[in-house]
Amino acid sequence: MDDLLAAAREAVEAAYTPYSEYRVGAAIETADGTIYTGCNVENANYSNSLHAEEVAIGTAVRDGHREFVGLAVSSAARDGVTPCGMCRQTLAEFCDDDLPIYTDGDDPAEYTLGELLPDTITPGHLDR
Ligand code: THU
Ligand code: ZN
Repeated sequence: MDDLLAAAREAVEAAYTPYSEYRVGAAIETADGTIYTGCNVENANYSNSLHAEEVAIGTAVRDGHREFVGLAVSSAARDGVTPCGMCRQTLAEFCDDDLPIYTDGDDPAEYTLGELLPDTITPGHLDR
Protein backbone atom coordinates (compact mmCIF):
# COMPACT_ATOMS: atom_id res chain seq x y z
CA MET A 1 0.00 0.00 0.00
CA ASP A 2 2.79 2.46 0.86
CA ASP A 3 4.66 1.70 -2.38
CA LEU A 4 1.52 2.19 -4.41
CA LEU A 5 0.68 5.51 -2.77
CA ALA A 6 4.27 6.69 -3.17
CA ALA A 7 4.14 5.83 -6.88
CA ALA A 8 0.85 7.72 -7.28
CA ARG A 9 2.35 10.76 -5.53
CA GLU A 10 5.36 10.69 -7.84
CA ALA A 11 3.11 10.48 -10.91
CA VAL A 12 1.34 13.69 -9.82
CA GLU A 13 4.52 15.53 -10.77
CA ALA A 14 4.09 14.62 -14.46
CA ALA A 15 0.49 15.85 -14.70
CA TYR A 16 -0.28 18.20 -17.61
CA THR A 17 -3.05 20.43 -16.29
CA PRO A 18 -2.89 23.94 -17.80
CA TYR A 19 -6.70 24.27 -17.61
CA SER A 20 -7.87 22.90 -14.26
CA GLU A 21 -4.50 23.10 -12.51
CA TYR A 22 -5.72 20.04 -10.61
CA ARG A 23 -2.92 17.49 -10.76
CA VAL A 24 -3.72 13.80 -10.25
CA GLY A 25 -1.52 10.71 -10.14
CA ALA A 26 -2.55 7.06 -10.06
CA ALA A 27 -0.68 3.80 -9.56
CA ILE A 28 -2.07 0.35 -10.30
CA GLU A 29 -0.47 -2.94 -9.27
CA THR A 30 -0.71 -5.99 -11.50
CA ALA A 31 -1.13 -9.57 -10.30
CA ASP A 32 2.61 -10.13 -10.78
CA GLY A 33 3.51 -7.11 -8.64
CA THR A 34 4.38 -4.64 -11.39
CA ILE A 35 3.32 -1.06 -10.73
CA TYR A 36 2.09 1.17 -13.56
CA THR A 37 1.47 4.86 -13.06
CA GLY A 38 -0.45 7.57 -14.86
CA CYS A 39 -1.22 11.26 -14.56
CA ASN A 40 -3.96 13.43 -15.99
CA VAL A 41 -3.27 14.92 -19.41
CA GLU A 42 -5.62 17.78 -20.26
CA ASN A 43 -6.56 19.14 -23.66
CA ALA A 44 -7.52 22.54 -25.08
CA ASN A 45 -10.95 21.19 -25.99
CA TYR A 46 -11.48 20.40 -22.27
CA SER A 47 -13.73 17.38 -22.84
CA ASN A 48 -11.24 14.72 -23.87
CA SER A 49 -8.70 15.09 -21.09
CA LEU A 50 -7.17 11.80 -20.00
CA HIS A 51 -7.56 10.85 -16.36
CA ALA A 52 -4.66 9.54 -14.32
CA GLU A 53 -6.33 6.18 -13.67
CA GLU A 54 -7.10 5.68 -17.38
CA VAL A 55 -3.50 6.33 -18.32
CA ALA A 56 -2.22 3.91 -15.66
CA ILE A 57 -4.55 1.03 -16.52
CA GLY A 58 -4.30 1.64 -20.26
CA THR A 59 -0.53 1.40 -20.14
CA ALA A 60 -0.69 -1.80 -18.09
CA VAL A 61 -3.16 -3.36 -20.53
CA ARG A 62 -0.93 -2.31 -23.42
CA ASP A 63 1.80 -4.40 -21.79
CA GLY A 64 -0.49 -7.42 -21.55
CA HIS A 65 -1.74 -7.14 -17.96
CA ARG A 66 -5.40 -7.83 -17.23
CA GLU A 67 -5.36 -8.72 -13.55
CA PHE A 68 -4.90 -6.11 -10.88
CA VAL A 69 -4.57 -6.21 -7.11
CA GLY A 70 -4.73 -2.56 -6.04
CA LEU A 71 -4.98 1.08 -7.10
CA ALA A 72 -3.79 4.26 -5.39
CA VAL A 73 -4.81 7.80 -6.31
CA SER A 74 -3.25 11.05 -5.19
CA SER A 75 -3.60 14.71 -6.08
CA ALA A 76 -1.31 17.64 -5.53
CA ALA A 77 -3.91 18.88 -3.05
CA ARG A 78 -3.71 15.58 -1.08
CA ASP A 79 -7.44 15.92 -0.65
CA GLY A 80 -8.43 12.26 -0.61
CA VAL A 81 -9.70 12.30 -4.20
CA THR A 82 -11.23 9.02 -5.40
CA PRO A 83 -11.55 7.84 -9.02
CA CYS A 84 -14.41 9.56 -10.90
CA GLY A 85 -17.38 7.58 -12.18
CA MET A 86 -15.85 7.02 -15.61
CA CYS A 87 -12.61 5.69 -14.11
CA ARG A 88 -14.53 3.41 -11.74
CA GLN A 89 -16.26 1.88 -14.75
CA THR A 90 -12.93 1.46 -16.56
CA LEU A 91 -11.56 -0.35 -13.51
CA ALA A 92 -14.66 -2.59 -13.37
CA GLU A 93 -13.83 -3.95 -16.83
CA PHE A 94 -10.77 -5.72 -15.40
CA CYS A 95 -11.03 -5.70 -11.60
CA ASP A 96 -13.21 -7.50 -9.08
CA ASP A 97 -15.42 -5.74 -6.54
CA ASP A 98 -12.84 -6.39 -3.84
CA LEU A 99 -10.06 -4.40 -5.56
CA PRO A 100 -8.62 -2.12 -2.84
CA ILE A 101 -8.50 1.57 -3.74
CA TYR A 102 -6.21 3.74 -1.62
CA THR A 103 -6.64 7.50 -1.48
CA ASP A 104 -4.26 10.16 -0.27
CA GLY A 105 -4.86 12.83 2.33
CA ASP A 106 -4.28 13.75 5.95
CA ASP A 107 -6.15 10.57 6.68
CA PRO A 108 -5.41 8.09 3.84
CA ALA A 109 -8.51 5.96 3.27
CA GLU A 110 -9.10 2.55 1.74
CA TYR A 111 -12.20 1.64 -0.25
CA THR A 112 -13.10 -1.29 -2.46
CA LEU A 113 -14.19 -0.91 -6.06
CA GLY A 114 -17.52 -2.52 -5.15
CA GLU A 115 -18.15 0.15 -2.51
CA LEU A 116 -17.44 2.94 -4.97
CA LEU A 117 -19.34 1.37 -7.89
CA PRO A 118 -21.95 -1.19 -6.78
CA ASP A 119 -24.12 -3.20 -9.19
CA THR A 120 -22.39 -2.06 -12.36
CA ILE A 121 -22.31 -3.66 -15.79
CA THR A 122 -19.32 -5.95 -16.34
CA PRO A 123 -18.18 -8.15 -19.25
CA GLY A 124 -20.04 -11.07 -17.61
CA HIS A 125 -23.41 -9.46 -18.28
CA LEU A 126 -22.87 -9.62 -22.02
CA ASP A 127 -22.45 -13.42 -21.91
CA ARG A 128 -25.99 -14.02 -20.69
N1 THU B 1 -9.15 13.65 -12.85
C1 THU B 1 -8.41 12.49 -12.88
O1 THU B 1 -7.31 12.45 -13.45
N2 THU B 1 -8.94 11.38 -12.31
C2 THU B 1 -10.18 11.33 -11.76
O2 THU B 1 -10.74 10.26 -11.59
C3 THU B 1 -10.78 12.61 -11.33
C4 THU B 1 -10.47 13.75 -12.24
C5 THU B 1 -8.61 14.85 -13.52
C6 THU B 1 -9.36 15.24 -14.77
C7 THU B 1 -9.04 16.71 -14.88
O3 THU B 1 -7.80 16.85 -15.55
C8 THU B 1 -8.85 17.16 -13.44
O4 THU B 1 -8.67 15.97 -12.66
C9 THU B 1 -10.03 17.94 -12.87
O5 THU B 1 -11.21 17.23 -13.00
ZN1 ZN C 1 -11.62 9.68 -13.91
